[in-house]
Parts: sequence; structure tokens; C-alpha cells
Amino acid sequence: MTPQVEPVSDDKTHGQPFVDRFGRVHTSLRVSVTDKCNLRCQYCMPDTPITFHPTAELLTFEEISQVVRLLVPRGIRKIRVTGGEPLLRRQLDRLIAMVSSIDGVDDLAITTNGILLEEQVEKLVAAGLRRINVSLDTLQSSTFKVLARRDGLERVMAGIAAATRYQELSVKLNTLILRDINLAEVLELARFAADLKIPLRFIEFMPLDAERAWSEQRMVSGTELRERLESEFGTLLQVDTTDSSQPSADYVTGDGQLFGFISTVTEPFCGGCDRLRLTADGKLRNCLFSQQEWDLREPLRAAARTDENLHSLFDACLSAKYFAHGSPQSHLQPPQRAMYQIGG
Ligand code: 5AD
Ligand code: SF4
Repeated sequence: MTPQVEPVSDDKTHGQPFVDRFGRVHTSLRVSVTDKCNLRCQYCMPDTPITFHPTAELLTFEEISQVVRLLVPRGIRKIRVTGGEPLLRRQLDRLIAMVSSIDGVDDLAITTNGILLEEQVEKLVAAGLRRINVSLDTLQSSTFKVLARRDGLERVMAGIAAATRYQELSVKLNTLILRDINLAEVLELARFAADLKIPLRFIEFMPLDAERAWSEQRMVSGTELRERLESEFGTLLQVDTTDSSQPSADYVTGDGQLFGFISTVTEPFCGGCDRLRLTADGKLRNCLFSQQEWDLREPLRAAARTDENLHSLFDACLSAKYFAHGSPQSHLQPPQRAMYQIGG
């Protein structure tokens, strides 16, 4: 049975903001809504048959909203919905409407591969979505097929075009470059974003792929990509940011085009990390690379569920957070789960 969404607890013992042992104030939650995906990107999923979580094991929208309602008074203000591919979750717009109407949620965004965007964007915007990141790693169908191991570039392009028609929706592109696959397309991708006047961010390949095919050689650093861009766009000026939790180092061209670099591997931004993560099956994590997770689903579904219980789990998760990458020993050791199972 689905528990009812209840009013926020007014228990003062849990009114404290989330500050971890290193003084990092946590304001952001990434919520994965499914581990399923309609692509099989090399840097993320395996291409072998995958057993996904059955729907009954996924948190319901009511349960997700309940967690968000409890986290907001603790200082969580920013919610990003991820997957797998989040648009595969049925009626995702219903969740967007529920979360965007929670008082104190200032920022609600989705990260999507864009395949289903054209058909869903209208509903999502109507539900209150104002920010979306679409992954775009190539402009060539043949490369898309190698990288994502499925067809679909045309649908992604149609999705991007549809999303950019909504003035109230801020659209950004995310690009992951693999040296052996799409490095030659960096400038074309950059020009594509510049023509549309939408920001493009390059994300370094992290060792979070299910096939464990990560290597330093395949990864292309943010610095190398920035140098390539400068050969076309001239010197890029770094944008000052007052927000230390911002993982992206942002630069602008003379024409005001924004390019960002999320250099998680070569320049980890752990010092400013302000995130917690909730997996589709209801496990709370304090880091992508964490080896530990805290189950919220069972206490959410327990007959004797109390807000107190959930707050204790939030606190346990936060106080176990290491400074960098899960634990002192696990720097760049892949966690048990791959990216699609955690939520990118
Ligand atoms: N390294 C870095 N980013 C990844 N993503 C998925 N797998 C990885 C990885 N191994 C990110 C990509 C993708 C988004 C959904 O998740 O940016 O666009
Ligand atoms: Fe799917 Fe995104 Fe992973 Fe690609 S990166 S396989 S689109 S979840």
C-alpha cells in the first residue's frame, strides 16, 4: 500500500541543516526514478541482458515526494531527476508536478538522453519543469550507433529542438568525449550548441561504466578539450562563480557562448560537494563512489513508519560521508553499482 504524504515533522531535533564532517552544507538531492534505459551508452551500461528492478521495488512518486518534503526543512533546495533514462518512468510529469509544488524546492531539473523528449516536453513544462539537461555526444548517426549501441540520434535532435521552443525552459547539453569514438567531433558539437545559443558542458569519463572499460587513455580531460575549443573560438574566459558546489568550471567565448567542463577525474570538486543521491530502489547515497548506502524504502513502507526514523537515516548517511570518493582507500575504485544504477 502506498503511504500517504504527511505534513513535515516539526520535531526540532531534526531541524538542523545538513553539514558533514568537512563543513560542507548539503543543499542538493539527485533522484533516480528508474534504472532502465532505451540506450546502452558504452560509458554507462553493459550491452548484455540486464535485470532491471521490477516496478514494485522502485520508490513510488508519493514516497519520493515524502523524502523531499522531509529533506527541504533540512536545507535541500535543489532536486535533479535522473535515471537510467528518467523519461521512461511512466507519468514522470506527475512527479514533476508533485515535487515542483513542494514549498522550498527552488530548483528542479531533469537529465535525459532526449529520446522521448519531443513527445513529453509539453507535459513536463506544464507540470512545472524549468530546467533540463540533454546528453548529446555526437551529431552523426553512425557514431551514435557505436557509442549508444542503439539508433536514435534523430529523436534526440527532435527532442532538443522541441525543448528549445519553450522560453520558460532552460536547456543545456551534456557531452562525454571518448578519445577513440567522438573526439573528432568536439568542434562540431560546440558549434551546434553555439548556433542554438545553449550552454554545453563536457563531462570527463569516470570509471563508473558497467563494463569496466574505463581507462585513462580513453578519457579526455577538460583541459585538453578547452584547448581544442580555444583553437576555434579564441581565448575562453572563466566565469566567476560564487557557488562552490557548482561542479562545472564555466567559460565563455567572446560571443558569450558558454562551455563548461566537469572534470571529475582530473580536478575533483569534492571540496564543494553538496549532494546526496537517492537511487530508484530507494537507497540513499552520499557519493557516486560510495561503497555504502542507506535503505529508505523499507522504513518508508513500514507500518510503524516515523519521520524520526527517516531523519536518523539521513543523518547516518551524511555523517558517514568521506571527503573524497567514497572512502580514503577507494579513490577511483569503481563502486558496486554502475552509473545507470546510481543516477548520473
Ligand atoms: N562517466 C561520466 N559521466 C557519465 N554519465 C554516464 N556514465 C558516465 C561515466 N562513466 C553521465 C553522462 C550522461 C549522463 C546521463 O550521465 O553525462 O550524459
Ligand atoms: Fe542510458 Fe544515459 Fe546510461 Fe546512456 S548514459 S545508457 S542514455 S542512462
